[in-house]
Amino acid sequence: MRVPTLEWRDGALILLDQTLLPEQVEFVACRDVETVARAIEELKVRGAPAIGVAAAFGVVLAAQATGSPSAGAVRDAAVAAIGRLARTRPTAVNLFWALARMEARLDANTGAAGTEATAALLDEARCIDEEDRQICRRLGAHGATLLGTDVCVMTHCNAGALATVDYGTALGVIYAAQEQGKRVRVYSDETRPLLQGSRLTAWELSQAGIDVTVICDSMAAAVMRQERPDCVIVGADRVAANGDVANKIGTYGLAVLAREHRVPFYVAAPVSTLDVGLASGELIPIEERRPEEVTAAWGRRTAPTGVRVFNPAFDVTPARLVSAIISEQGIARPPYGPVLQAWAAASRAS
Ligand code: MRU
Repeated sequence: MRVPTLEWRDGALILLDQTLLPEQVEFVACRDVETVARAIEELKVRGAPAIGVAAAFGVVLAAQATGSPSAGAVRDAAVAAIGRLARTRPTAVNLFWALARMEARLDANTGAAGTEATAALLDEARCIDEEDRQICRRLGAHGATLLGTDVCVMTHCNAGALATVDYGTALGVIYAAQEQGKRVRVYSDETRPLLQGSRLTAWELSQAGIDVTVICDSMAAAVMRQERPDCVIVGADRVAANGDVANKIGTYGLAVLAREHRVPFYVAAPVSTLDVGLASGELIPIEERRPEEVTAAWGRRTAPTGVRVFNPAFDVTPARLVSAIISEQGIARPPYGPVLQAWAAASRAS
């Protein structure tokens, strides 16, 4: 039984506080939209799909809090909540995708009473939550076909159950392979500055009984040369129409290393992570975070006071370094443009 990443319970959104892992397993109960927005900003909940689902429930909390039978009051509160949540983190497109779905559901209920509109919003958030579970399973099954019976996989950051409602994308591929009886060993980059690889990926893979070894980001090149992993699998925060991939800072470097060592580099992402309206990765907004995450994140200073810091949370890997993109709809190989457009169109039609 996995520890749930997020759950809607008794009219509140319960989040596993990922900033406390791996030392403490504690939950935050969000009863208003501001608490959800701050949890997203502070990475209590993080990972592109999980951010989208949490935001959807955040809109429900705002609607619910009006306690009003007036449709206008519910609408005003939901629209304000969507605006607040959209300002939390700019890179993961799943956030904007989920908020757009909530807005569309609100629009479809303009004639309804306030209580009905609130119920419709809750239904939409629950659908997004449930779809995410199913999508990760389908994605995992497709991805597992790329893995042999005894494989070594490198990954970066956390694209697992903790980054989704359940199961994960990159790690979902690993779970699916394990469920098929394959033997999978994983090297997890620690992922500076916030250590999602060592704190989160190593934690959840260990809980699932998967053989995981943590390495510092700076060790990836040596491990690739000496250990010859069979592939790299990472998640994504946004994939542009041409297949360029925004993901956690350090992903691009890993892709360059994989090319040099002839290791296949796979990206696992649901169709909700595609942004086919953006021609290339250069147009993806990259979040910059506080300097203190680099200079003083873990209880002591690791750089002199006042030193200049550059702290982008994501980078863009050019499509030419990506061997395949795995989604719930299948596996795309270069050139990515036509397949990604077809996947996005199929998902809009369903
Ligand atoms: O800053 P984070 O922890 O939200 O970054 C997460 C990542 O970069 C993940 O790889 C990405 O969101 C994919 S999650 C399935």
